[in-house]
Amino acid sequence: MDQLAPLIDPFARAITYLRVSVTDRCDFRCVYCMSENMQFLPKRELLTLEELDRMCSTFIGLGVRKLRITGGEPLVRRDIMTFFQGMKRHLDRGSLDELTLTTNGSQLARFADQLAEAGVKRINVSLDTLDADKFAAITRWGRLGKVLEGIEAAQAAGLRVKINAVALKDFNEDELFTLQEWCASRDMDLTFIEVMPMGDLGNEDRLDQYWSLKDLRARLAERFALTDLEERTGGPARYVRVDETGQKIGFITPLTHNFCESCNRVRLTCTGQLYMCLGQEDMADLRAPLRDSADNAVLENAIRAAISLKPKGHDFDYSRQVVDGQMSRHMSHTGG
Ligand code: GTP
Ligand code: 5AD
Ligand code: SF4
Repeated sequence: MDQLAPLIDPFARAITYLRVSVTDRCDFRCVYCMSENMQFLPKRELLTLEELDRMCSTFIGLGVRKLRITGGEPLVRRDIMTFFQGMKRHLDRGSLDELTLTTNGSQLARFADQLAEAGVKRINVSLDTLDADKFAAITRWGRLGKVLEGIEAAQAAGLRVKINAVALKDFNEDELFTLQEWCASRDMDLTFIEVMPMGDLGNEDRLDQYWSLKDLRARLAERFALTDLEERTGGPARYVRVDETGQKIGFITPLTHNFCESCNRVRLTCTGQLYMCLGQEDMADLRAPLRDSADNAVLENAIRAAISLKPKGHDFDYSRQVVDGQMSRHMSHTGG
């Protein structure tokens, strides 16, 4: 593929990371992500797997080096392995550095081997608690046992696993060290995330759920020596090494430390809308330019026009003891 001029946004940030939500559906209903009764998009609205392939390949032609597949739950999309197998060609040609996914783990026992065969090396699994009852409560529909089986299958298939845990006040505060030890004993990295004010804010109070990672880090530091690492994965997490165990712990801090100045990513939804920022409404429809013309130049121009509108950053803020900058859009719409 010819190398075209790279994607640079108005704040001189190069866009090299595309997150693709391949379905808005999920087999769980995590309270901070979805409401209990979700209206899902009709299937005919979705980009087909061929269209998703063309869309991603076009972004790769424009300099995207990292592709993260998200949802909803990406592994509930029918035949999604066909899409992963297709993307492998970009890894093989060296035009893509990383093909990966963020998953709730429920389907991993079935798909781990095929993901590894498609060139996936590292996956992020969302898991906030190791207590089966608490897990059922936070995911509303999930079963912990199935996720643990999935994680085991992923490791057996040779995939590196990183656990993503949303830090939740009065929910997993008491599991900080349990989660840390459990990950260390299984050679898994662990990243904590501050809960963001998205989704069902009428029924859910994010401020009540919010546990700042400044506090979480201070609690970790009471027990362990933490060394800041310069290492980056291309995502927003900042990592420390726990000197005593050697494990890596990441912090994603949209509230206590805004990382937007180094933002390198945009998000494509399963219907072909491109969201330029997780915390803003700005989006551009790419489905029409994709469908209207077989000439990729039309789509490329639409992508460039969208990137030229990328906002500076999100406005999430709880510091005045009220929720500011909230988004009514559910996290499952863009896959985080
Ligand atoms: P790594 O490749 O492992 O660094 O992944 P990642 O952190 O980019 O992706 P992941 O899907 O694991 O996302 C973890 C959390 O980070 C999710 O809650 C995302 O919503 C959040 N996140 C990712 N990118 C952004 C961003 O640009 N802004 C904000 N506010 N949150 C983000
Ligand atoms: N705030 C922070 N993280 C969230 N996620 C889902 N909803 C929220 C929220 N409101 C996380 C999931 C998953 C990732 C894609 O986003 O736990 O790890
Ligand atoms: Fe599903 Fe992930 Fe949202 Fe939970 S956070 S409801 S697992 S999409």
